Amino acid sequence: MCGIVCYVGEKQARPILVGGLKQLEYRGYDSAGIAVLEGGSINCQRSVGKIVELEKKINALEMNGTMGIAHTRWATHGEPTEHNAHPHTDQTRKVFVVHNGIIENYSSLKKKLQKGGYRFYSETDTEVLAQLIGIAFEGDLTEAVRKTISKVEGTFGMAVIHQDVPGEIVVARRGSPLVIGLSDDGHFAASDVSAMVRYTNQVIHLQDNELATLRKDDFVISTARAEPIQRTIETVEWRAEDAELDGFPHFMLKEIYEQPETVRNAMRGRLEPGEGVPKLGGIIPVWEELRRCRHLVIVACGTSYYAGCVGRYAFEKLTDIDVEVEVASEFRYRKLNFPPNTFILALSQSGETADTLAAIREAKRKGARLLGIVNVVGSSISRETEAGIYNHAGPEIGVASTKIFTSQLTILILLALLLGRHQNLSLTEGVEAIRALQLLPEQIQKVLSQANHIEAVAEKYHACQNWLFLGRKFSCPVAMEGALKLKEVSYIHAEGYAAGEMKHGPIALITPEMPTVAIMPKDDMYEKMVSNIQEIKSRKGPVIAITTEGNKELGDIADEIIETPATLDFLNPILAVIPCQLLAYYCANLLNRDIDKPRNLAKSVTVE
Ligand code: F6R
Repeated sequence: MCGIVCYVGEKQARPILVGGLKQLEYRGYDSAGIAVLEGGSINCQRSVGKIVELEKKINALEMNGTMGIAHTRWATHGEPTEHNAHPHTDQTRKVFVVHNGIIENYSSLKKKLQKGGYRFYSETDTEVLAQLIGIAFEGDLTEAVRKTISKVEGTFGMAVIHQDVPGEIVVARRGSPLVIGLSDDGHFAASDVSAMVRYTNQVIHLQDNELATLRKDDFVISTARAEPIQRTIETVEWRAEDAELDGFPHFMLKEIYEQPETVRNAMRGRLEPGEGVPKLGGIIPVWEELRRCRHLVIVACGTSYYAGCVGRYAFEKLTDIDVEVEVASEFRYRKLNFPPNTFILALSQSGETADTLAAIREAKRKGARLLGIVNVVGSSISRETEAGIYNHAGPEIGVASTKIFTSQLTILILLALLLGRHQNLSLTEGVEAIRALQLLPEQIQKVLSQANHIEAVAEKYHACQNWLFLGRKFSCPVAMEGALKLKEVSYIHAEGYAAGEMKHGPIALITPEMPTVAIMPKDDMYEKMVSNIQEIKSRKGPVIAITTEGNKELGDIADEIIETPATLDFLNPILAVIPCQLLAYYCANLLNRDIDKPRNLAKSVTVE
């Protein structure tokens, strides 16, 4: 979704802002813009398309100045055109605003302003903000922003500059993330730390209904009611190199290859092999209630939702807890009635997904307790949940989530194991599980070593326009995730199905042009999966089987076999999803797709 980056300090702002925008490209956008205070006036430039288009435009200009704001826009109100791109300005052309989020009452505000003679040049809601700030300005920019936010409904992360207030940027947030970055030679603000991690790792996460006034040497954070606030400065773990390609052609491939490390990081310091019990410091604040929990609801979207679906099977296997998994965007419309001591567990890479946030807020209102598994430290979900566990997986830049899925699975299993060991799970079972978990990084490496074989399979089938992914039990959500990965990066139509549902409909689709990826480890579902793929084979559908290493039984029915090392059934999804990720990647590559930034998709979905 849209990205914001701003800087005020000693250095030239333009390269910092353009570099920051490039780090935010992964969020998805369709136009970009920049405004720099140059001498006594603000030079604002915008363009449609990629940031290189904006660069071409501004390279011909001087644009000298040590303070500015910049934006990548993902169209919501109005098409992706230059006049809709941010920054937007007011009637006086002195105020410039970049904004993420949606101003819900913009239409009525705009009509009122138009009646008062104000002219608008875009179809955006943001231009209303610029006009209102311009009207409210009486010499104090922070006050003008404060007055404006009291009039608007909806969500915003915004940054504002005014020609008559040199050396000052005002930022404000409600519902859209904004992080302030501190350094010796200036201050930053961005919608995402990756935009400034090259310059600083000292950050403050602005919270809802807060404003910050940034200057070269100081900053002030205040509430919407003008009360000053003190915030502790956090140190982010992410390094500038994490946001580099490091020799890989795409972030998606780099992140697929990072999985031995990210799964290891998800377990680092969290295993007690002798006791067969994980240690999860993040849930200590709620431990006494959590250990008595008998009802858990996992809420998430997209890939995180499929991780939750695997989590349900793991909890059912390892604990006595009833688990529901719900797509966050639907959950909040249910008639919720929680038994006492119900915990809601939100899964989210970004920690900013609007639907997941709305779901946990609704659950809290109904008395549920809140937990989170989140990758982005300090993100909204991490702050709004009572306790939780971080992925520590570094930034995920590719729009298609890969390393976070396996990291989420690892953490879900650690949590299930911890709770199970305080219920009926024996020491032997706990020790066996931890031993198997410890083997995972090496086993993932082994799956990755088959990349050439998987690429050859992709070469053979990438022209097929429809694919089916099938699995049962633990492998069923892997099938759904495999299909999601393929469709989002290659634009090939794919369906993920519970294999048992085949004969209730989808089998009608089977033709020699429709490959089926069957996730069929040698577990208690294996024989049933064999029957399913036989039904496909007898209708001449090609079968790509992902099965356990050493399984020699599929030669006659599967056209292609991809092997994953043997592990415990509840850990198998962590291995089986990797061939699916690679298949999606290689198909997309062969089809020349924009792999890290697939069309119409955004990394962090901060609107409902
Ligand atoms: C798919 C993908 C999305 C996200 C979903 C939730 O590859 O990345 O489906 O999983 O938008 O995002 P988070 O996990 O940030 O809440």
